[in-house]
Amino acid sequence: MDNSDPKSPPPSPGPGPQQGDPNQPAAPEIPEVLAVLPVNEVNLFPGMIFPIIIVDPRFITAVQERMASDRMVGLFGIREESGGKEKLRPEDLYDVGTAAYVLKMSRSEQGFLQVLLQGLARVRLMGITTLEPYIKGRIQVLKEEADMDREVQALMSNLRQLFARLLELSPALPRELGIMNQNIDSPSMLADMIVSALNLKKPEKQAFLANLNVKDRLKKVSAALQRELDILELGSKIHSEIKGKLDKGQREFYLREQLKAIRAELGETDDSSVEIDELEKNLEAKGLPEEAAKAAKQELERLKRMNPASAEYTVSRTYLDWFLDLPWSEETKDNLDLDEARKILDDDHYDLEKVKKRIIQYLAVRRLKPNMKGPILCLVGPPGTGKTSLGRSIARALDRRFVRISLGGVRDEAEIRGHRRTYVGALPGRIIQGLKKAGSRNPIFMLDEIDKLGMDFRGDPSSALLEVLDPEQNSSFSDHYLEVEFDLSHVMFITTANLWETIPPPLLDRMEVLALSGYTDEEKLGIAKRYLIPRQREEHGLLAKDISFTDAAVKRLISAYTREAGLRNLEREIANVCRYVATEKVRGKRKKASSIKPGDLQKILGSPHFESEVRARTSPAGVAVGLAVTQAGGDILFIEATSMPGSKGLTLTGQLGDVMKESAMAAVSYVRSHLDGLKVDEDYFNKHDIHLHIPAGATPKDGPSAGVTMATAIASLITGHPVRPDLAMTGEITLRGLVMPVGGIKEKVLAAARAGIKHVVLPARNERDLDDVPDTIKKDLTFHPVKRVEEAIDLAFSKPTARTRNKKKATKAA
Ligand SMILES: Nc1ncnc2c1ncn2[C@@H]1O[C@H](COP(=O)(O)OP(=O)(O)OP(=O)(O)O)[C@@H](O)[C@H]1O
Ligand SMILES: [Mg+2]
Repeated sequence: MDNSDPKSPPPSPGPGPQQGDPNQPAAPEIPEVLAVLPVNEVNLFPGMIFPIIIVDPRFITAVQERMASDRMVGLFGIREESGGKEKLRPEDLYDVGTAAYVLKMSRSEQGFLQVLLQGLARVRLMGITTLEPYIKGRIQVLKEEADMDREVQALMSNLRQLFARLLELSPALPRELGIMNQNIDSPSMLADMIVSALNLKKPEKQAFLANLNVKDRLKKVSAALQRELDILELGSKIHSEIKGKLDKGQREFYLREQLKAIRAELGETDDSSVEIDELEKNLEAKGLPEEAAKAAKQELERLKRMNPASAEYTVSRTYLDWFLDLPWSEETKDNLDLDEARKILDDDHYDLEKVKKRIIQYLAVRRLKPNMKGPILCLVGPPGTGKTSLGRSIARALDRRFVRISLGGVRDEAEIRGHRRTYVGALPGRIIQGLKKAGSRNPIFMLDEIDKLGMDFRGDPSSALLEVLDPEQNSSFSDHYLEVEFDLSHVMFITTANLWETIPPPLLDRMEVLALSGYTDEEKLGIAKRYLIPRQREEHGLLAKDISFTDAAVKRLISAYTREAGLRNLEREIANVCRYVATEKVRGKRKKASSIKPGDLQKILGSPHFESEVRARTSPAGVAVGLAVTQAGGDILFIEATSMPGSKGLTLTGQLGDVMKESAMAAVSYVRSHLDGLKVDEDYFNKHDIHLHIPAGATPKDGPSAGVTMATAIASLITGHPVRPDLAMTGEITLRGLVMPVGGIKEKVLAAARAGIKHVVLPARNERDLDDVPDTIKKDLTFHPVKRVEEAIDLAFSKPTARTRNKKKATKAA
């Protein structure tokens, strides 16, 4: 109903042709003179029902008048060539048209006339009779030549097939056409129905209207239909090909664009593009080093092309976030005031002179040479000697940030250096993560427990650390994840270890080792009074008047309730006492302030954990006390020997390492070969099995330094002489009975003092190591440097008051 040509009645293409109801009574005879309706389109064929709209008042009058009489009109197409002329002349009309019966007529609101027509027959316009009030013309009803031969039948069935195919390919055509296609019997009507459905030009349609030879018309319709089908099929082929060729990316792009459009329509802003813009701005503002800036820019370009909902997008986004979060150039300003720094260090820790001095020196040089590289310190010492807390304190003194990572159990190189981004969930290594946490590129970076680094098939983390800890290399540290170099040269690395022996040698070589070998009881007392007690008091919400310790009480805590080189257990026991006092205070039981005395400890903490067990354990023959260096600093070690009838030789237990086992065999061989000196029956070893055990059986032990002690234990066993309980020994032996020097003298001596030992037997060549031992310790101990095993054995068998053979050599410190 879109045709509204004002100059002529404008029948327009409607919903499509319809077959007239065959049950309807035949239309009345067609008169010789008909009202002529010129139409723009040639759509009405005989047998079809078709709606038209009439705008021109003249033609409206015509139809209305005809409605009152025979209801017949003649429809004639306006020739193409006549288009646009002011006044329509009779010769502008095609001479063949359709006579039609007006089925229905109604006025629209706009004043148009809607008319439903049924085509009746092809008619020829023979001449115009009147023009006013509407055009009338003389017509002749045309007869078609239609025989129903086999060719016509074949043509019809071919036509039906083609048309069915056409309907399949053009979903826009009404479905009823399919039913009509099957049901129309008349060849002429079938041809006309199809023509009216085809997309043909007006002259072509007119030619079909004017064609009275039905067979010929059928052929021509077949050709036209085939042509249209070809076009449609080609179109659908091209369509599916193009669809196939649209690769995934393009489709995604297309869909995303659509999504964008939908969002924009809904008034939602596009989050991801806002996000990317912001990211870009921030990255520019960040001032990345050249290489990093380039990598970030590249990644950003990739990000822009990604689907924000994809996993890849998140990965890329996270990567760029790392660039934003890392302190590429951010730095804190150092406190370069030496006195102030020293004061802070002293406030936090007692003694530790060597380390404190080193830090002050660093500061001094740093003032003279502002761009100096950070030193790499390694603090080695038993647990609880203040390594970690010293690191924090150094950071405080220098006014730098502090980060700490523990390397204990790190086996994988990737933990240090990160995973490549191709791995799912990849992250930078711990070094880069630590720097992000620090937020400045010059923090104090503590690598705790470097001696407990592991190594396995996943690579050697120590090799990655080599790069980190080498001032020559670490200005261009490369993390697998980051892929661009990061400058670590401003970082001050401090590593810690309990034992330096297990630090990979190339690493050890790069570091400046500062030993913290443990505290004497005297030092512990000082630290407890100045640091531990005030700190614990505060942590338990107590006031100075609520709790104080007498020196004797602290000493008792140290000797009877802890046995350690460091301070951890002491601090724990002090906390224990504080909790007790806090409970009393809350219960209102603690009225007046009273200080903790040694006698109170039993009530608060229970029985002492460490009474001197040495006397009890060494009373039978066959037990000797050795000194060892362990993870926990120095310690005493009981070596037990026993024998039973038999001739199997030697059994060794207590998780001994190879070196220690060999050392035990050497000790046995030595004793066997010197039986006469010991006044023992020559047959003793033929009749006895010897069993040597070193508790605690669960702790692995190794090293040669127990040789003298093992020889002494066996000698004690076979002679029946108990070893004196206040004596401990250390030293390696040779098969010939020479005593060789060993390591860790200071730690061993401190441990002996802690255990209440009075006499220490040590290799003569270790005598000079005693210089490291604090005088307060030396004054309570007697040292016996020996060159041969016999001397050690003699000392061990001597009565506590008896003279020693090495009296003149025994050093008693002032
Ligand atoms: N010289 C000291 N002055 C004051 N307090 C100290 C001193 N040495 C250690 N401490 C205190 O002892 C406690 C244990 O110290 P820290 O945790 O630093 O030990 P560590 O050497 O790191 O031990 P580990 O090897 O087991 O890690 C801390 O509370 C620390 O403050
Ligand atoms: Mg620590």
